[in-house]
Amino acid sequence: MNAEHRDDLDMTDRPIGVFDSGIGGLTVVAALRRTLPAEKILYLGDTARVPYGGKSPETVTRYSKEISDLLVEEGAKMIVAACNTASALAVPSLALSYPVPFIGVIEPGAAAAVLATRNGKIGVIATRATIASDAYGKAIRSLSANIEVTAIACPLLVPLIEEGLFDDEITRTMLRRYLEPLLRAGIDTLVLGCTHYPLLKGVIGRICGKKISLVDSAENCALAVRALISPSGNIAQDGNARLDVMLTDSSEGFLRIAEKSLNLTIDSLNIRKVGK
Ligand code: DGL
Repeated sequence: MNAEHRDDLDMTDRPIGVFDSGIGGLTVVAALRRTLPAEKILYLGDTARVPYGGKSPETVTRYSKEISDLLVEEGAKMIVAACNTASALAVPSLALSYPVPFIGVIEPGAAAAVLATRNGKIGVIATRATIASDAYGKAIRSLSANIEVTAIACPLLVPLIEEGLFDDEITRTMLRRYLEPLLRAGIDTLVLGCTHYPLLKGVIGRICGKKISLVDSAENCALAVRALISPSGNIAQDGNARLDVMLTDSSEGFLRIAEKSLNLTIDSLNIRKVGK
């Protein structure tokens, strides 16, 4: 983070740059819309290279860097990694090397989970790469050392969501299977540790029951963005809001499903090449 750029006079008007491996990060965009309604948002979904969830830290870091460079070139006033996998694997090493604030979804989600738990037992569901990194476990234990974290990789959920099967028997069956060990462990709080998962919040809530609090990393990330930009006075004024979407390959089908379920309006859509 570099004070020189943050003090630019036109900061308020510049977009918040948001990226994800694909379309799932639009859940963060929807949360940003609710939290900071006047902001311009420039979103890049790396649909040519999705999913990130099974890739190595080196690859996810390289992809995240290429995208962040592009967002900065396009004038982003801050970068939001709206992808748990990129947040877990790439944000810690990249965040300090950019001239604008750079934030991921892990810390805000971990902090919200620590606040929500009453019995000290937190469950995390996420991609294989996020679970293997233990990013949530580390972030949660750094806030409260005695909390028990049970984490389960759910590799089949992203493809089901991308097919638009939000409340389908096959999705419910997979969820019951993935969630069973967490319910057995007695968790009272569940972190939806993938930005696709808020699209399954309804069905996850019904399987978990009312006694388990669901922590939506998208919503908590949006609150953290507001906390980060409001003291510096970089919040946009009314009337400037727009959402410009760039994808690295065409993915119209799921984009339109997500746009509708998240109640978003996309002002422009372009295909952009990123990396070599
Ligand atoms: N949206 C990504 C995340 O939050 C998951 C999709 C992927 O595997 O790329 O981790």
